[in-house]
Amino acid sequence: MTIANKDQAEHWNSSEQASRWVGHQDQHDRMLAPFAAMIFGAAALSPGERVLDVGCGCGTTTLEAARAVAPGTAVGIDLSAPMLERARHNATRSAVASITFEQGDAQTHAFAIPPAFDAVISRFGVMFFADPGAAFANVRKATRPDGRLTFVCWQPLTANEWLTVPRSALAEHLPIPEPADPAAPGMFALAEPGRIRSILTGSGWHDISVTPERAQVLVGGGALDDAVTFLRTGPMGRSILDGAEAGAQARAVGAMRAALARHAREDGVYLGAAVWLVQARA
Ligand SMILES: C[S@@+](CC[C@H](N)C(=O)[O-])C[C@H]1O[C@@H](n2cnc3c(N)ncnc32)[C@H](O)[C@@H]1O
Repeated sequence: MTIANKDQAEHWNSSEQASRWVGHQDQHDRMLAPFAAMIFGAAALSPGERVLDVGCGCGTTTLEAARAVAPGTAVGIDLSAPMLERARHNATRSAVASITFEQGDAQTHAFAIPPAFDAVISRFGVMFFADPGAAFANVRKATRPDGRLTFVCWQPLTANEWLTVPRSALAEHLPIPEPADPAAPGMFALAEPGRIRSILTGSGWHDISVTPERAQVLVGGGALDDAVTFLRTGPMGRSILDGAEAGAQARAVGAMRAALARHAREDGVYLGAAVWLVQARA
């Protein structure tokens, strides 16, 4: 297995990420359900097709794809061994046939030749490539001519209330770090539609559309406590909280909790989220 994205591989295989993503899979899926619906609404999968799910994580969207294309096949690729272990476990438990999971780097993975996939999907799994052009070219080579690409990625942080509301509360007590390089691998690497178009065009995709979509998300996928845990252990929360003095940390988290509580409904905290729904043809 050739891994170009070694830092990302370490990150997504760490015990911290495993407990965050594997340990809270159901909550994440509840939070991210609106985006799965966007992908499947747009991807128009049909029985008999072969689908690749890039950065499939614990495999929820791969399972849904396998069901949509049965008796076709769905393949999930991901860097993370613990997340794939969960994905395989879930697939066995659901008795879904024709689904496989491969541990690998989508940027360099040796996909089958001739190209096998009619459709490629991804829910937030394509923003972490050191060389996005190489990664999208590698995925295109795995896709049959005219095959469809459908993914969602985040719009900028400032468009995502589920991040700006807790961030403003944390900022009452702690300094906010300088914004990271917007093109660096991470949540917001594809936040600019111009960059998405230029990466996809440069890697041989055509008929590209980048559509703004919004949803109200159940933050952390559960009650107020889940929202607080999800945000304090996520990249935005950690960039502010990690290394801070304990008292200031506690005050900041308290302020965040109070701010989130103002958006709580019966089943948890709802806030707005903004993504790009991206479609293209190989
Ligand atoms: C934000 S998570 C999303 C997981 C899943 N798609 C979901 O919606 O629950 C991003 C996923 O992308 C995977 N990933 C990051 N870089 C990758 C790469 N170069 N090749 C394959 N998977 C990658 C990570 O291991 C992680 O599971």
